[in-house]
Amino acid sequence: MAAANLIRHSASHVLATDFHYIAGLIERNYVGQGALCEDLRQLIKEQFPCSEVILTDSGTAALHLCLVALSMERPGRTKVLAGAYACPEVICAILQAGLEPVLADSRADCLNVDMAAVGRLIDETTLAIICTHVAGIPDDCRLAATYGVPVISDCAQAVGSSVDGREVAIDGLFAILSFGATKMLTAGGGGALLCRSEGLARTIASLARPELSIEEYRREGFRITYGQHIGDLTAGLAAAQLRRLAQLVEHRRSIAASYEAVLRARADVELPNEGAGVRANRFRYYFFSREATAWIESLRSRGIDARGSISHVIPEYYGSLRAVPRLGAMCGRVVSVPIYPAMSAAEVDTITAALQGANR
Ligand SMILES: Cc1ncc(COP(=O)(O)O)c(C=O)c1O
Repeated sequence: MAAANLIRHSASHVLATDFHYIAGLIERNYVGQGALCEDLRQLIKEQFPCSEVILTDSGTAALHLCLVALSMERPGRTKVLAGAYACPEVICAILQAGLEPVLADSRADCLNVDMAAVGRLIDETTLAIICTHVAGIPDDCRLAATYGVPVISDCAQAVGSSVDGREVAIDGLFAILSFGATKMLTAGGGGALLCRSEGLARTIASLARPELSIEEYRREGFRITYGQHIGDLTAGLAAAQLRRLAQLVEHRRSIAASYEAVLRARADVELPNEGAGVRANRFRYYFFSREATAWIESLRSRGIDARGSISHVIPEYYGSLRAVPRLGAMCGRVVSVPIYPAMSAAEVDTITAALQGANR
């Protein structure tokens, strides 16, 4: 079936009511950093307590800013640990900050990073650990925190997920949000950095400014600032989405429950092990099969945009796939199916029926 006719793999979720804020923008005749950016900052702080929220123009920019600030505080520490199954933007943020990515193998039972393997890679040059919570399934941030280096809870995929009732965006010295077009909060772009150190928050707020005042440049000399900010146009939409995050997550969970009910009855597939106490936000829905290619073909022939990956096997691009044997063995067995709140009930039924009948 032609790709354009398939049930899309991911999508935004915008409602007409999300745009009510536009009237205020027109009244104020201002789309820069104003009242709606402040409203979004306060909203994030209320939901995920932290000392400071810095709004950025992407999740990548948020990651970059906190890495730059950390490396200013800890010169000589140049390595950043992350999972090998990752979004390329995560690696780009590390490289943009002039740091070295060090990638750990996945767990045996899902695509998330093996946090014990991360522990074995830590040395005196490690600057930070980034937990990327693949597909919205939380990484073990509690174990990461025991290694004595700052933890960044990258919630671009995982906002709304929790472990033992604790939101993953509450974990870490820093947490990252992304408001990308098909993320959990779909504002078409933008992100946020949640900082839990007042000192680092001051450094980051200063780095994030678009420019300094003439007096500051004259007094301190020229220095780089990054200015990766958003304005009220984006912030208003992100805030509208954040206000209904709980409903968005519940909707995704109900779709996942429908898929799960039929997949659990099949002996020929394996579901990822999310771990004890985990409630994932269901950003992505994937399972493992030894016949992943046949599954994907079968689902696509039934009008469903199934995919064989949800992220990238980064070591492959560095020619070091052998360093991550578990991920190497697992990545060819991934089947990812559409899941997002904008799906119609009929589309959910089509996918559920296909998961029951496909590839038999
Ligand atoms: C885990 C993770 N971190 C960071 C990013 C980057 O976010 P953004 O696209 O807002 O820059 C992404 C984007 O896909 C992601 O999946």
